[in-house]
Formats: sequence, C-alpha cells, structure tokens
Amino acid sequence: MKITISVLKADVGSIGGHLKPSLALIEEIRKFIAERARGLLIDYYISSTGDDIAILCTHTRGPGDQKIHQLAWEAFQAGTTVARKSGLYGAGQDLLKDAFSGNVRGLGPAVAEMEIDERESEPFIFFAADKTDPGAYNLPFYLAFADPMYCSGLILSPKMSQGFKFRIIDVSFTEKTKVIELVAPEELYDIAVLLRDTEKYVIESIYSRSTGNQAVAISTQRLHNIAGKYTGKDDPVAIVRVQGEFPATGEVLAPFNIGHYVAGFMRGSHIGPLMPCRLNATISYFDGPPVVTGAAFSMKEGKLTEPADVFDHPYWDTIRTSVAQKASEIRRQGFCGPSMLPISELEYGGVVEKLNQLEKRFTYTD
Ligand code: F6R
Ligand code: MG
Ligand code: MG
Repeated sequence: MKITISVLKADVGSIGGHLKPSLALIEEIRKFIAERARGLLIDYYISSTGDDIAILCTHTRGPGDQKIHQLAWEAFQAGTTVARKSGLYGAGQDLLKDAFSGNVRGLGPAVAEMEIDERESEPFIFFAADKTDPGAYNLPFYLAFADPMYCSGLILSPKMSQGFKFRIIDVSFTEKTKVIELVAPEELYDIAVLLRDTEKYVIESIYSRSTGNQAVAISTQRLHNIAGKYTGKDDPVAIVRVQGEFPATGEVLAPFNIGHYVAGFMRGSHIGPLMPCRLNATISYFDGPPVVTGAAFSMKEGKLTEPADVFDHPYWDTIRTSVAQKASEIRRQGFCGPSMLPISELEYGGVVEKLNQLEKRFTYTD
C-alpha cells in the first residue's frame, strides 16, 4: 500500500522566551487537526521540540498535497491566535507570509515528506531538532548510512551492501532547487567534501541502492532565504525508515552519541553540541543547547503505533552529561573565534552595524 508520511513544523509562539509552546497552544493544534482529519488523514501525531510544534501525519495524497499543507497552515494559524491571546512570545513567528498559496514550502514552516510502499512492518523514526539548522543532520546521517564504523549493517547485511544514494542540496542557491546525487561507497570523499560545509550543503534525502526505496527525508528550508533576512534558525525535522534494507534503529541513533557541534544555540548565532533529548524537550542553558528528539513508530496501512522515545534510556543520560560538558566548554570562550558563527550566519544584524561604524574610524599607516 502506498502511504505518504508528512511532517510539517513551525514555531508559532512559546512560553518564557523561546523555550516551549504552551499546553493550550498544542491542544488547539491537536483539536484543529482532529476535527478536520476525517477523509484526509489516516493518522497523526502532534508533538513539540523546544519552541517548535510538529504535525506528523499519514495519508494517501502524496507529498506536497495542497489539502494537507493547507490543513497544517490553518492549524498553525489557529495556534497563533491562541498564542497571541495568551501573550506567548514570538506568536506566529514562522508564518512568514500572510496568504496560503497551495503549499507551505516558502511560507515558513519546515516540511519533510515521503511517499512509500509500506512494508509488512514499517518502522521509522521522526526526528525534530531545535536551535539549529538542517546541516545538523549531515554528520549523523552520513555516519549511519555510509560508515561501517557506525553502521555495521553496511558490512553484515547483504541487503545493504550496495550502499546508499545521497541527494544533497545547495541551500545557498535560492532561485531554483540546486541538487546533486552522489553514491556511497564509491563517492564517499565527494559526499564528505560537500557535507563538511553544513550551512551550504545539506542532505535532502537518502535512498537504498539495492531497492531504490527512499530511506530519509529532511526539511531543507532556510527561513532567511524566504524572509530575505535572517529570522531564526530552521529547526529541521527528518523522517528515517529503519530495519531490513535500511540501517537498524540503533545504527541510526549511534552517531548521535557524538553530540557534534552544530550551528544555532543562543540567538541562532553560535556553535553548540547537539544534545539528544527526550520527546517534548524544552530549551534552557544559553537558549540551548541545540536539541534533537526522536519518536520511533511502527505503522500498518498508515495507522501509527504510539511513539517509542528513542533517547529515553539510561544510556543517553551519560551522553547528555558529556554533551552538557561540551556545551559549557565552548561557552567559556564567549564570542571569540569558532564559538560564534561567521557574519553571514548571524541571526542578528548588530555586529554588521558596528563593523560599518568602526570601519570609518580605522586609520591607515605604512
Ligand atoms: C534562537 C532563539 C533565541 C533568541 C533569543 C533572543 O533561535 O530563538 O536564542 O534569539 O532568545 O530572542 P529575541 O530577539 O526574540 O528577544
Ligand atoms: Mg523560536
Ligand atoms: Mg525553534
């Protein structure tokens, strides 16, 4: 059976700064979707990660469907009304345009979707990250899909021995979608050359080379490309199918134990380690650290089980402790050097304004 899994995510307001949406806001979105799901959705799951709310839904209408996108857009608008009424901070923040025009791509919310031929059992993980951008997934998914040091299935499972195809987008090019397809293992070094630059090149999707089936879909929208100026980090979502021809759940999770440094953190302008957290995680230290949550599901004819919280295990408590140490360590050097992002990636214009003023005061001597 062909099933579409769609995730649409937005920040439409939160409590106490950019920490988490209110229960009333989440409830409003849940109610809105529940009332309109009949005849449109097979199933859905509403969750929050940091200050973002994600609507994950299953249906048979294919990716980019107008009705599905409109449903999410209107749900986020209804949420914005509640956010405004209760004085939540940043109400409607990610709804960058006034009118819906057929598809939420280009309007602010992040989208990851894939249409699949549902397997006998269809396990997948829904990842959501806050206070970071889509390049945050470059390293963990490279390691999970291309490196036998992390994914033992690449050498143990005949179903995976042909490797995977990566579709990588240049997100700095905004006129059209600029995309390249590279295959692992033959083109590993080329993949690495691109993925090292997480602000420019991001994985959009990954496919099994033995079956051609899609394994991964990631939201690649950049808010500042839409708004014409920097309006916040893009807080990316991802769908990852697991088991069988794809890496096992644990192989996909394994690279998240690095707590690798990503762009984001305070004011979307710093570098911080990505902390794997429990579902519905909130934000704290230095408006961070950047967090990622994972909800694993099984699915039958589009009907979802309850989520299994992939980072809710004693193992990840140890990792969170070491990631917290990494966060404190890089923060010790404040604004200096690699702890803050380059000017092109800063979320606020203050540095550029100051530099322009100071430029006039420089003097020149031989
Ligand atoms: C980062 C983020 C926060 C805010 C910070 C200041 O993406 O959302 O770190 O940048 O809390 O927020 P404003 O400028 O809204 O007061
Ligand atoms: Mg926010
Ligand atoms: Mg956010």
